[in-house]
Amino acid sequence: MHHFSAIDGVLHAEQVPLALIAEQVGTPTYVYSRATIERHYRVVDQSLHGVDHMVCYAVKACSNLAVLQVLAQLGSGFDIVSAGELARVIQAGGDPAKVVFSGVGKQDFEIAAALQAGIYCFNVESEQELHRIEAVAQRMGKRAPISVRVNPEVDAHTHKYIATGLKTSKFGVSPAVAEAMYHHAAASPHLQVKGVDCHIGSQILQVAPFVEALGKVIELAQRLRGQGIAIAHLDVGGGLGIAYRDETPPLPDELGEALVAVAHRHQFTLVVEPGRVIVGNAGVLLTRVIGTKNNGDKRFVIVDAGMNDLVRPVLYDAWHRIDPVVSHPARTVQLVDVVGPVCESGDFLALDRLLPEVDPDELLAVYGAGAYGYSMASNYNSRPRAAEVLVDGATYQVVRQRESVQDLWRGERLL
Ligand code: LLP
Repeated sequence: MHHFSAIDGVLHAEQVPLALIAEQVGTPTYVYSRATIERHYRVVDQSLHGVDHMVCYAVKACSNLAVLQVLAQLGSGFDIVSAGELARVIQAGGDPAKVVFSGVGKQDFEIAAALQAGIYCFNVESEQELHRIEAVAQRMGKRAPISVRVNPEVDAHTHKYIATGLKTSKFGVSPAVAEAMYHHAAASPHLQVKGVDCHIGSQILQVAPFVEALGKVIELAQRLRGQGIAIAHLDVGGGLGIAYRDETPPLPDELGEALVAVAHRHQFTLVVEPGRVIVGNAGVLLTRVIGTKNNGDKRFVIVDAGMNDLVRPVLYDAWHRIDPVVSHPARTVQLVDVVGPVCESGDFLALDRLLPEVDPDELLAVYGAGAYGYSMASNYNSRPRAAEVLVDGATYQVVRQRESVQDLWRGERLL
C-alpha cells in the first residue's frame, strides 16, 4: 500500500506530480510520501494492540531527519546502531526513553552517549560487550538497561547478506551463553536486565520464522524468570518483508496476531524494530534518462542515478519496479538494462527489464526505494548525493538539499 499513482498519465506522489519535483529540485531525487509512512507506522502499531508494546523504527532504513520527525510525532520509538543515529533521533525530536541500541560493535563513546541520553535498552551482542557496557556505566555512575541478543538459529529464507539468525552469523549469542550473561547482569549494580532480544534477518516473507524465533526467545525468557531474573519485554527485531515485485509478504496484522497471542499469554511487553515495512514503499527514486545506446543486441537506458544512489540491485540482486513518470501508451516495449553513469559494470538499477521506449531527458521512477536507498548512498565517482523530498498531500518540501561539488571535499586539505 502506497500513495504513488498515475493521474492523467503522470505519476504523482500523493497529489504532487513527480515531473514538477524533477523540474524544481532536479534529479536524481528521493521522494517520500508522508501519508504512506504514517499509514505503515499505524498499521504496525495497531497490529500489536492488545498487548503492551513499543514500535522502534529501525533508523538505518531511512534516517532523514524529517522522516524521523514524522515518526517521532506519531509516538514511535527508534532502533539505533550508532551514536550518529542516536544524534539524529534526538535532533528530530525523538524520545531517547524509547530507543533501543542494537549492533555488534558498540564503542565506549557510543555507549556513554546512549547512557547520557537515557535510552530504554542496549541490545547486547556478546559477553565482551556486556562487560564494556558495565564498565562505561560504572565510570558514569549509572546503571545500564540491557537485553541480550539471542541467536535463535532460525533460517529466515532471505538473501544471505541480510539473514542474521543463522549459527554462522556474527550477530547475537547462543541461548546458553545468553543465560550466563543474564546471571552476570542480574548480579551487577551497573546493569539492569530489561528483556530478551533477537533479530533474524530482513525482507522475510513468512510468519513462521518469526514464530519459531519467538518460541526460542520465550523459552529462554521463561527459564530466566524461573531463576528469579525479571524479564519485562521480548524484542523480536524487524525484518518483515515488502512486495517489490510479486512477493506476497504477510500483513503486519498476521504477524502481529501471532506475536501478541504469545506475549499476552506470558505477560511480556513486545518490542519490534521495523524498518523496511514502514518506509520501503514510501519512497521512489526519481531519475532522468541521459541517453540510450545499443551494443549489438543489448540495449541500455543510461540514467542519472547510479549504484552510488541505490546500491540494492547490485548488492542483493534486488528487483525494483521502474516506470516512466509520463506514460506514452503507444510506445513499443523493449528489453533493456537500466544503468547509471558510474564506471562499474555493477552500476545498474535493472537488468533485462521490459520498459517502454524512452527518449533522453524523460523521467523514470524507481519504486520501493524508501528503505536502504538514500541511507546506503555514497559519493563514489565524486557524485554529489541526491536530494530528498517529503510530499505531504498537495505540497512538498526539500528535506535534504542535493549535495554540491564543494560538499564533496569538505574536510579535505590541499598540501
Ligand atoms: N533490527 C535490527 C537489529 C536490524 O539489524 C535491522 C536491519 C532491523 C531491525 C530492521 O530490519 P527491516 O525491518 O528493515 O528488515 N540493506 C539491506 C537490509 C539490511 C538490514 C539490516 N538490519 C537491504 O537493502 O535489503
